[in-house]
Amino acid sequence: MKITVIGTGYVGLVTGTCLAEMGNDVMCLDLDENKIRILREGGIPIHEPGLQDLVHRNVAAGRLQFTTDIAESVVFGELQFIAVGTPPDEDGSADLKYVVSAARNIGKYMTDYKVVIDKSTVPVGTGDKVRAAIAEELAARKLETPFDVVSNPEFLKEGAAVEDFMRPDRVVIGADSERAITVMRELYAPFIRNHDRVIVMDIRSAELTKYAANAMLATRISFMNELANLADDLGADIEQIRVGIGSDPRIGFHFLYPGCGYGGSCFPKDVQALIRTAEESGRRLKVLNAVEEANDAQKHVLLDKIRSRFGSDLKGKVFAVWGLAFKPNTDDMREASSRVIIEGLWEMGARVRAYDPVAMDETRRIYGNDDRLSYASSHQDALTGADALVIVTEWKEFRVPNFDVIKSSLKQPVIFDGRNLYVPAQMRKRGIEYFAIGRR
Ligand SMILES: NC(=O)c1ccc[n+]([C@@H]2O[C@H](COP(=O)([O-])OP(=O)(O)OC[C@H]3O[C@@H](n4cnc5c(N)ncnc54)[C@H](O)[C@@H]3O)[C@@H](O)[C@H]2O)c1
Repeated sequence: MKITVIGTGYVGLVTGTCLAEMGNDVMCLDLDENKIRILREGGIPIHEPGLQDLVHRNVAAGRLQFTTDIAESVVFGELQFIAVGTPPDEDGSADLKYVVSAARNIGKYMTDYKVVIDKSTVPVGTGDKVRAAIAEELAARKLETPFDVVSNPEFLKEGAAVEDFMRPDRVVIGADSERAITVMRELYAPFIRNHDRVIVMDIRSAELTKYAANAMLATRISFMNELANLADDLGADIEQIRVGIGSDPRIGFHFLYPGCGYGGSCFPKDVQALIRTAEESGRRLKVLNAVEEANDAQKHVLLDKIRSRFGSDLKGKVFAVWGLAFKPNTDDMREASSRVIIEGLWEMGARVRAYDPVAMDETRRIYGNDDRLSYASSHQDALTGADALVIVTEWKEFRVPNFDVIKSSLKQPVIFDGRNLYVPAQMRKRGIEYFAIGRR
């Protein structure tokens, strides 16, 4: 099939590349000329395991190309995937200007039948807006060219995006046209060869399914975070509680890890957007409001522990921070807890020595040259002369560090662990003061 992917970010680039890998002809469009230049020169603008090789292979095979030319990209694909950003508006609702602009461009340049597939995470009713925008542009051109609109939300996880796209646990297709459903089934058939995992539904339900999935996952995290804080108060151990409840098959073990708050480009904005969607229809989502409030507070939990240990005047103190990306295996720092923690430490007068295995460039892009922040070259380097270590992201290389080096490099052996990587009893034995989340 000939496919255009509009928006070549985390979702668009993975989608386009994986579709090319299955033999389709794919053109990825982005308005960001720098991104397209990097891709055309053989680079890759994001960190995503396995993606670079896949991009190179499919470009070399002539199945994957990159462009900034809107007209060319619209004419190219019978399938037009919209994978542009849907960032939060000022009030938290999803800003649809990129989605609607992409739809308008399709209407402006299309010359024959198109299936327009919304892969961005969008509020219920966006399918209608996309349809209206295309129809308006066609009417302005005095054309009645047929097209269908499909909602096909994406469930990939950054850090495992290629794997998730190649082996999806479900493919949700919201559509009201048999022609479009047939095309979509054909497109996804190679990805789900061992059993059918396509779930066809109406467009509105598909749009809401994506928000429901992220809201449920965010809820589990906020629930465990609150219980971990309570375990701290009561002298119980959240790790044992996690194992104790996860063994109930109705609960399960996934997504029950407490920590210093969820971040990223999806959970925070999607929880907020769903709250706003509900408010617009006159409904207050009590659970989700609490989930959001609990998460905002959780991003400050390590700062509270630091304040209890060192006081609130941290002038002259230096904190080593391990992990800046919002989760391991990505360089994405959107809404990352590290940002709240770094800025909170600055507010109390401290300086930070930061390290992340892949997000150093992104950190430089966000904070630039700031006297209060130094960029370490390794996780050991970050420790040198610091008063304490703060762990924010659970990268594998932090799981079994050399504790002797930690002890000898820090001014005093104190660790604040926002991801519960170590066993408190062992830390005590090593003579390290260890503050984790809900651990005893
Ligand atoms: N990142 C994830 O893990 C993930 C997972 C599932 C769903 N989603 C959803 O997918 C969507 C995209 O997310 P992302 O993380 O890939 O965003 P992103 O910011 O990485 O990429 C979006 C890209 O779209 C480009 N763009 C904007 N308007 C354009 C236009 N009119 N034409 C062409 N390009 C345009 C931008 O320049 C940018 O490169 C969002 O709705 C997000 O909620 C993201």
